Amino acid sequence: MVSKTVDSRLEIKHLLPENTLKQDEESELIAGLIQKEKTIPCHYFYDEIGSQLFEQICELPEYYPTRIEASILEKYAPQIAQLTEICELIELGSGSSTKTRIILNSYQNLGYPLHYLPIDVSDSMLFESAKSLLLDYPNLTIDALASTYEVALEKLTTIPQLLSRRMIIFLGSTLGNFNQLQCDRLIKEIKESLTPGDYFLLGIDLQKPRDILNAAYNDGQGITAKFNLNILSHLNWRFQGNFDLNNFEHLAFYNEKENQIEMYLKCKKAHSVRLEKLDLAVNFSEGETIHTEISRKFNLEKMSAYLTKMGLKTVQTFTDTQQYFGLILSQIN
Ligand code: AVJ
Repeated sequence: MVSKTVDSRLEIKHLLPENTLKQDEESELIAGLIQKEKTIPCHYFYDEIGSQLFEQICELPEYYPTRIEASILEKYAPQIAQLTEICELIELGSGSSTKTRIILNSYQNLGYPLHYLPIDVSDSMLFESAKSLLLDYPNLTIDALASTYEVALEKLTTIPQLLSRRMIIFLGSTLGNFNQLQCDRLIKEIKESLTPGDYFLLGIDLQKPRDILNAAYNDGQGITAKFNLNILSHLNWRFQGNFDLNNFEHLAFYNEKENQIEMYLKCKKAHSVRLEKLDLAVNFSEGETIHTEISRKFNLEKMSAYLTKMGLKTVQTFTDTQQYFGLILSQIN
């Protein structure tokens, strides 16, 4: 593990043994591209341009989750801070930490000490958002973990705890991008990384009329389409590929039976593509799809019961007046 103290209040730990991760990622990508129903793992969305496009998505009029989640936090974060009392905040997929500020504010307003452990694979993102947080919160200390969720959660128990309790926060309905099996695994890892009495705060997008969901993933400005297609540009530069983005189109729809948005890239004409660095050639037929993402939509009560079953007992749930988005505060047994 490489650790670097950037400032007396900021340490960045690099938890990833680089090569092992790369190899896993590459074999997962190859497996997805050679199978009958082609898929690309959705973490490939988030190269530099992809992350910027995602930030733009969050501002779109049709994309309600970010705004509604922030409004629920604005309203209830003071209550959450009162319920948990002093605790370290550990965030999975911290990104730009915009919503984290709402939570930090409520802990600060109660005069609590602030210690934040953001976890993100992008160390440049960690560094940039940490610098700006340190400027705005003079009493904040940050222990940033440049890592995947799995590795960071596994190492968490070995990282010295400075405050009496911990709370893991997982916002933005990122859990929706995990299938049930992946979700079970992650929740188990979260539970095992904490000790009894610690907290978990989860943000989830809720089931709602189909038209609203379809619009959120098929915006009028075509930003979501750009975001989806950018996954191919990412593969082009990472693996010296020759995907022609003009040969594919964005496809996203709500699957009501599965309660999930499904996102695909649909091939417009038969052709083949090479990824030099993987020594891989892939044939595409006209109309064939590459599956790029699921975004599951949940039921608040069911999720709360599921977490309880997994050993994370619900303390309180929070939602907006339309019940578009939900937050669950739970506590480890
Ligand atoms: C990563 C869960 C926040 O699934 O809504 C947005 C990603 N994909 N538009 C989601 C996404 C297309 C997003 N989250």
